[in-house]
Parts: sequence; structure tokens; C-alpha cells
Amino acid sequence: MDHFTIRDGALHCEDVPLPTIAEAVGTPVYVYSTATMRRHARVFQTAVAPAGDSLTAFAVKANPNAAVLATLATEGLGADIVSIGEYRRAVAAGIAPAKIVFSGVGKTEAEMEEALAGGLSLFNLESVEEAEMLSAVAVRLGRDAPVAFRVNPDVDARSHAKISTGAAHNKFGVPIDRARAAYDRARALPGLAVTGVAVHIGSQLTDLAPLEAAFTRIGELIRQLREDGHHIRRADLGGGLGVPYDPDRPPPPEPEAYGAMVARVTRGWDVTLVFEPGRLIVANAGVLLSRVIRVKPGAGTPFVIVDAAMNDLMRPALYDAFHAIDPVIPRDGTMTADIVGPVCETGDTFATGRTIGRVEAGDLVVFRTAGAYAATMASTYNSRPLTAEVIVNGSDWAIARARQTLDALIGADRVPAWLKDR
Ligand code: LLP
Repeated sequence: MDHFTIRDGALHCEDVPLPTIAEAVGTPVYVYSTATMRRHARVFQTAVAPAGDSLTAFAVKANPNAAVLATLATEGLGADIVSIGEYRRAVAAGIAPAKIVFSGVGKTEAEMEEALAGGLSLFNLESVEEAEMLSAVAVRLGRDAPVAFRVNPDVDARSHAKISTGAAHNKFGVPIDRARAAYDRARALPGLAVTGVAVHIGSQLTDLAPLEAAFTRIGELIRQLREDGHHIRRADLGGGLGVPYDPDRPPPPEPEAYGAMVARVTRGWDVTLVFEPGRLIVANAGVLLSRVIRVKPGAGTPFVIVDAAMNDLMRPALYDAFHAIDPVIPRDGTMTADIVGPVCETGDTFATGRTIGRVEAGDLVVFRTAGAYAATMASTYNSRPLTAEVIVNGSDWAIARARQTLDALIGADRVPAWLKDR
């Protein structure tokens, strides 16, 4: 459920009409709903409560905006980070380091050092080599680093290939058949406190079966590790639960079903669980608000050219992702069109042959379900400034990120002296 609804003939975010934001801030602009984020945070935490003690660590990569993180911090969420930039953002938003877990396949020594000095809760190590580097850092700082290995359970997540991570050929984690040896090696390294096991098999999962298969393997591994004498107290089950993007397709499992499955599979594990949901918390809490520049006849279907482009919302170009597109002030009738951006690439296509509410030049449209992996994946391709972000809370709204100015975009370039004296 989200809080984007038509009222008095116009799409609102909570109590704010979207045309008000478009007029004040310009387009394209991302708009986030506080009430939706809060609701999702609560629904998820309630859903996993039957599984016992847990920490829900929001996957910051999904939406690292400071206002979004601060909102989620007030709901008690921790953070799953993959870079020191995300660490600093999480801490600045008021998330205690004790609630932050550090994932990521290529942590550097400098990143480890800063996070460990800050008191980070758990390092999810992806290799023995990484364990060795962290051990050296921990010894130098005179601290014990709490660690888990991210284990690659070799299951097919049945999601898009570019966002599946738990198959043997993927770059992530320690292969499960080498996990016991990795734990033994970590135990022998000074400065590491081996405390947990971690797994994450992919994103936008629409089926619980692969997750259940992965968790079952992790449960078996925990049993073996305890036999080997390891004191396993935490199990990080990653993120990955999908959200409904396309209203015409069967929805992914509800958080309640996920929570019930987790409670069943992890019964008797005797650990504190960690969850790392990203998309589930923020995807439906955001839209990308854009204006139709013009409607151009095509050889077949017409082209609706909007002022948002693939640089603002990459998901359709990168993953053939579906985002529902709706007019902000609905007119009578529908039209079938290709919805495209102004960037000079055929891939800058949001939808092909899509039937949407009829629009004309100058109308506002939204791309729905754009709160996750959207603004944060933007680029300045075609010298298009990074989009503004707005956060709504009831009838209040505020700029959560200012639109990048063209001066900032262009002015960061430097021309070397030898070209200046031409
Ligand atoms: N934990 C780890 C270790 C991850 O790698 C990810 C996502 C998550 C948690 C959060 O997964 P979620 O609950 O959001 O599915 N850019 C892609 C998604 C990439 C996901 C990367 N890792 C997209 O737009 O679909």
C-alpha cells in the first residue's frame, strides 16, 4: 500500500497535490511519502517478529537520501551499508553504529578502519582474503571486529540475472562447501570475533522457495559450525523480497508470508536475526514526477517524450524493469504509446506499446514504484543535472535534495594549463 492517490482530480502524495510540487521545484523530481516508508518499516518489523529477536537493517543502497534515512531511523531501523559513504550517511542520519552491518564484495582497508573505529555491529566478510585484511586492521586499532562470512548457498534466486547473487558462479560470498574452512581460518586470525553467518541471494524475489532453500542450507551450516566449536550468535538473512511493480502480474509474497517462513525455518537456531530489506521499505514510497515535453507521431504507435530520461531512472534501460506510468491529472480515455526520454539512445525507453491514461504536451505523469534504486542510480549522462528529491509528510513537503545546478555539473571539470594557453 502507498499514499499516492487521486483526490479532487489530481494525484496527491499524502495530502500534497503533485502539481504543487512540480510548479515549485520543476520536473523531473522524485517525490517520497513519509507515511508509506513508515508503514512499510512497521509492516516488515511486525512480519518478522514471530521469528524472535532481530535487527532490521535498511539496505542504504536502495535510497541513501538523508531525509529518507532519518525517517527510517525514527522507526528503529538500522542500516546495511556497502561503502564508507553509506556508513557516513547512516551515522549522520542518526543510526547508531551498533545497528549497522557492513556488506559488500570489495571493502578496502580504509573503509574497514573507519567503520571498525566507529563501532560497527557486524562485518559480513566475502572471502578469507578479506578476513585477513580486516584482522590486520583490527590488530592495528587494538579492537575486535565482529564478523560473519557471507555464504554463497548456490541457489537460483529466479530473479533478473543482473540482480541475482546466490548462484555458485556469482561473485558474492564464500562458496558454502568452503565455508567451514573459512571459519576455521578466521578463528585463527587475531582481532576477529567470529559471531555470525550471512546470506543474500538476490533482489526483487517473487517466490519464497529460493529464500527458503538458502536459509535451510544456512541452518545446516550453523549446526556444523557449532560442531566445529564456533560460537554463532547471529544470522543475517539479507534482503531481497520483491515488490509489485506491474499491477497486471501476480504480486510477490506478502511480508507476513516471508516472516512466517523465516520463523518456521529458523526455529531452534538460537541466534539474533538480521534482515537487510531495501526495496520493500522504499520502492512504493516514491514516484518520479515528470512532464510530457511533446507527443510525436511514430511509424506505428506515437511517442510520448517526457522530461525524465534513462539517466534519472535507469531501471527500465538496465533491467527491462516495469514502472507503471500514470497521468497526474487524468483526462478521459487512454492511449497506446512508447514512453521515452530525451536522451540520445534507443535504450532511453521507459515503456513500449504501453496503454496509459491519455496525455498531451505539458501534462504531468508519474513513474510509480520509484523510491528504490532510482534517484541513487542516476547519472549526468547527456549533461543532464541530477534530479531533485522531495519528501512529503502529511500536508508538509520539503526538498530532500536540491536539483544539481548546471554550473555545479559543468564547473567540476578542469581544463589543464597546456590547453588554456592555446
Ligand atoms: N543486502 C545485500 C547484501 C544486497 O546486496 C542487497 C541488494 C540488499 C541487501 C537489499 O536487497 P533488496 O531488499 O532491496 O532487494 N539496482 C537493482 C537492485 C540491486 C540490489 C543489490 N543488492 C534494481 O534496481 O533492481
